[in-house]
Amino acid sequence: MDEKDLGNDLAKVLIPEADLQAKVRELAAQIDADYEGRDLLLVGVLKGAVMIMADLARALHTPASMDWMAVSSYGSGTKSSGVVRILKDLDTDIIDRHVLIVEDIVDSGLTLSWLVSNLRSRGPASLEICALLRKPEAVKTDLDVRYIGFDIPNEFVIGYGLDYAEKYRNLPFVGTLAPHVYGGGGS
Ligand code: XMP
Ligand code: MG
Repeated sequence: MDEKDLGNDLAKVLIPEADLQAKVRELAAQIDADYEGRDLLLVGVLKGAVMIMADLARALHTPASMDWMAVSSYGSGTKSSGVVRILKDLDTDIIDRHVLIVEDIVDSGLTLSWLVSNLRSRGPASLEICALLRKPEAVKTDLDVRYIGFDIPNEFVIGYGLDYAEKYRNLPFVGTLAPHVYGGGGS
């Protein structure tokens, strides 16, 4: 899927494909340096993290296993509440493992805060977070995100794993939607 397939649904491309790919390589290089000689377990948060997970994992030289969690945060509309339910748990026992959570985006940080305390209670050797995108709200929380791709404005974004009503995940770039798509004002 690319820009042309979106017609007038796309407002703008926020992060082009080439910038995403360059950033993923940068993040992988940092992670390689930090985890040298260790056995890494990447934990992707479904479904938004599929693209960053797939690209990051292939860019790493460090041997890495991959596992997945799916969580849903209760909340009204697009705001998360911090009350999280596990829809799919890990298949892996993470005790004494070096775990790196891979996320698409940190907004309020409530989902990740919950996930960190949940995983920490399972006794990993280490636990860090890699998030592709961070919104301004997240900067205010005390969530410690070790690896960050891009700080973005407080706009709803789609593409490269991120969806609106389950659509647009398969765009190779990150963009914003035209207001008419989500019932906002304008044409
Ligand atoms: P919190 O607020 O808990 O939320 O940090 C993180 C989760 O909220 C979703 N989210 C978005 N999804 N475009 C999306 O497609 C966005 O702009 C956006 N902002 C937050 C996302 O699922 C993330 O894991
Ligand atoms: Mg998500």
